Amino acid sequence: MMLTFENVLDTGELAEIRRLLASAPWADGALSAGGQARAVKNNVQLPHDCAAAEFIRARILAGLDRIPRFFSAALPLRVFTPRVNRYGDDRNFYGAHIDNAIRVLPDGQRVRTDLSCTVFLNEPDEYDGGELTIHDSFGVHGVKLPAGHAVLYPGTSLHEVRPVTRGARLACFFWIESMVRGDDQRRLLYELDMNLLRLRERHGETPETTALTGVYHNLLRQWAST
Ligand code: NI
Repeated sequence: MMLTFENVLDTGELAEIRRLLASAPWADGALSAGGQARAVKNNVQLPHDCAAAEFIRARILAGLDRIPRFFSAALPLRVFTPRVNRYGDDRNFYGAHIDNAIRVLPDGQRVRTDLSCTVFLNEPDEYDGGELTIHDSFGVHGVKLPAGHAVLYPGTSLHEVRPVTRGARLACFFWIESMVRGDDQRRLLYELDMNLLRLRERHGETPETTALTGVYHNLLRQWAST
């Protein structure tokens, strides 16, 4: 299941992010990649502890917290520290790879990378190329969203960032360990939840929506690990 979310960041936040990124300490992206990914990763990224990365992380996580549909889709348990990256000039692509299944936080806690989320930090007309290309059983999807918008997709997918041939692509991405490990089960829960919302909008609370809400929570109780 691949989903997009609008306006995770507002225009004021995006302007501040662009100001911070203009003088940010970019470093080699290969430093944080796993073995196979390192061979195909050619970008630059911010160190986790710089002021720009800290600001961007905080704004994005707060922005996603305000979007109930994101919570319903991801059912997050843990998040691996969001990373900010830049593709442009001669560091302009990330070839096809699958992300490592497990990441380790500085405190030693492990995060299973069930879901991957990319938040775009500049506008699509500022660069050519740079599509986030995701391969799944329904084909190949090229994703290039307006600044402040996000895409969420399963960590199991083969994906790449196509070469940027003009300008620079700025983005932030992170992994989520979900309370529900399987993409198929998460999808069923998401569809049930979204359709319950629509039923309530149309008919208000009815005995049927109450019963189906119970089904949702009882499925979540069976499938979730906390
Ligand atoms: Ni990746």
